[in-house]
Amino acid sequence: MIQKLSGGREAFLLRTDNTAYALMITASGHPEHLYYGSVIDAESADELDALREKRAFEPGNAVVYSEQHPTVVLEDMCLEMSSFGHGDIREPFIELIKPDGSRSCDFTYDSCLIDEQPPVMKDLPSSYREDGKAEHLCLYLKDGELTLELHYYVYPECDVITRRARLINSGDTIELLRLMSLQLDLPADGYCMTVFRGAWAREMNKVTVPLPGGKFVNESRAGTSSNRANPFFMLHAADATECFGDVYGFNLIYSGNHYSAAEVNAYGKTRVVTGIQPQGFRFLLDRGDAFESPEAVMTYSALGFTGQSMNMHRFVKSHILRGEWAQKERPILLNSWEASYFNITEKNLVALAKAAKELGVELFVMDDGWFGDRHDDQRSLGDWEPNPKKLPGGLKSLCEKINSLGMDLGIWVEPEMINVQSKLYELHPDWAMAVPEQPHSEGRHQRVLDLSNPQIVDYITEKMTAVFSAANISYVKWDMNRIFSDVYSPYLPPERQGEVAHRYILGLYRMMRTLTQRFPHILFEGCASGGNRFDLGVLCFFPQIWGSDDTDAVCRAAIQEGYSYGYPQICVGSHVSASPNHQTLRATPLESRFNIAAFGAFGYELNVRDMNKREKESMKAQILLYSVWREVFQLGQFYRGRTGNLHEWTVVSPERDRAVGVILQELTGPNIQYETYRPRGLDPDRTYRLYSVSGSVNVKLFGSLINTMAPIHVRQDSLLHSIIARVVKMGGEHEDYNAKGSVLMAGVKLSQGFSGTGFNENVRLFPDFASRMYFIVADDV
Ligand code: GLA
Repeated sequence: MIQKLSGGREAFLLRTDNTAYALMITASGHPEHLYYGSVIDAESADELDALREKRAFEPGNAVVYSEQHPTVVLEDMCLEMSSFGHGDIREPFIELIKPDGSRSCDFTYDSCLIDEQPPVMKDLPSSYREDGKAEHLCLYLKDGELTLELHYYVYPECDVITRRARLINSGDTIELLRLMSLQLDLPADGYCMTVFRGAWAREMNKVTVPLPGGKFVNESRAGTSSNRANPFFMLHAADATECFGDVYGFNLIYSGNHYSAAEVNAYGKTRVVTGIQPQGFRFLLDRGDAFESPEAVMTYSALGFTGQSMNMHRFVKSHILRGEWAQKERPILLNSWEASYFNITEKNLVALAKAAKELGVELFVMDDGWFGDRHDDQRSLGDWEPNPKKLPGGLKSLCEKINSLGMDLGIWVEPEMINVQSKLYELHPDWAMAVPEQPHSEGRHQRVLDLSNPQIVDYITEKMTAVFSAANISYVKWDMNRIFSDVYSPYLPPERQGEVAHRYILGLYRMMRTLTQRFPHILFEGCASGGNRFDLGVLCFFPQIWGSDDTDAVCRAAIQEGYSYGYPQICVGSHVSASPNHQTLRATPLESRFNIAAFGAFGYELNVRDMNKREKESMKAQILLYSVWREVFQLGQFYRGRTGNLHEWTVVSPERDRAVGVILQELTGPNIQYETYRPRGLDPDRTYRLYSVSGSVNVKLFGSLINTMAPIHVRQDSLLHSIIARVVKMGGEHEDYNAKGSVLMAGVKLSQGFSGTGFNENVRLFPDFASRMYFIVADDV
């Protein structure tokens, strides 16, 4: 709900189910931020006066805004937006150069609008769509011939408020140097900021820093939202836990360079800004031009990190994901990449698909290597015609063969890129971003197409249309495998080169919009060397993104846990791959690889033809189990439990009648006999059955300990050892309890763990990288 309150001053109160956000217009015309936290109620602006900082004199060595307003010291106020020039020396919301060369701005309140069907942004994706309704407030601020619109959208059921800004120039040309999307000034210090940093194959490492004073920045200059620093971050009380404490969450609906800063100033106030990265950004606005910044998302919860995550998950599911696949269960896929890399032909692809089908896989995805002369990563990006030797009958013939197996076909593309070794580059060398007459720095031997040029966007859109309609394609993996360098568009004049990185993203969004509208049935999965572009902008078009090129179950547990703070698990592509793992060479049990990958948009990525009988049987059983529980795994509410050496997760169906949990241990220790699984999110008053599915124990796990039981000596890893392992069937421990949700959530004490002194079927073997799943069903279903 949005209320305009009158009284001595004009004030605005924005309310969601559990939070409230309040601001008031000062006598000097500045929108002053009053409050963001747990829900409050007020009927008049005078009531909100209690939340206003009282000022009777100006602090020493500070600048007073004006003679008429001798107590207005902008540096020491919480503001809805700020700029340089009249005393606020903190991180600004907007920076620009006026026609006379001055940089001072002074935007003051002019008017407001409250409505439920605001205009849709033309070029950028947003939470609000044409067919929807959103509670919307716009504050119009003026500085001479400039108008600044501050937009607020309120999503009560998600406890989310989003913000964006638009600048309109009615005067001579100005240079816009930054326009943030959100500014939140909190009147206190002492917060911590948690960001998610990383690199290729190790995305979403959670890093928490206290904010003692000065500025901490979370930013990308990669051209993409980046694996270096995901745009999602949190600001929270130092003692916040999963279940208690003040936590603010922020994100940006944008896929390019971003910038977020938290600054604690000299007066102990904390300012958060988030928006497009100002470095390298410079937009010229001629008379009549407008610039809009992407939409930023914020949420608050008094219920700790879990409360924050639940708000973000609800918001992403209901206001970001869209199209046919948004709320739909995703198929179980097998991707050819880690099975075959570039070494693919129709014959071996069909054989791989056939083997996968026999185990229950529903969708077969042909990854890189199918087009042009693509035998390695050095050539052919841009030449989107099937290689006639690898696919003699083209995409159509392959697709028919896959379809006749009863499977769907998906393909891999990397539309935004070009190799110098390609026919496209021979024809259009100026289509690649590069500084004329200067050597270009490449990444993965490739260059970035200049998507700030509409002609190139149109060309690639048509090429992709031809590829996607050449056969019955039901899934597309849209990859993007390098970061930007030598950012320069031959299409734009020299004075507009500061616009290239942003115009690229607008071109990309146009391409994604057109193709997703043309192919509404296709399930698109975003990818950028894994998670180098995992953001809400991409998720507005593609309902899932490949979480990481790292498929090692242990690394993945941490990576997927990282994503879970800001994104629901259905968005995160996660696959079971071979062991030892191709990125880490770590050997992990198939059970653990499945137990982690199952908590996401699930699939396999390994050569199933090379698996032994026992592995194939396990995989078949996994797929069967996953199919039964798929809805809960993919669309249930995700809860984190303990994190660290032990990862503990639970997903719970919306009706809270079914849930699945997992514990995965990184490293074991000696004589650790007791372990607990604590489910979360159950109905405390409902009775549930919690059980495990007991697997079989491979006696090889005991190594030479087998000799303590065997009548004859068995040499470890000998043929005899393998034969015994095949013949001797030992069951694993079995957990089975009937109890109220409140009892189970208090923590189920699991079977005693192996600790070197004895073993029987009631002992839980839990070595390094072991894991267990627990299934929970309400007894009234
Ligand atoms: C990137 C992707 C991988 C795979 C390769 C193909 O690295 O993240 O999953 O598709 O490209 O070249």
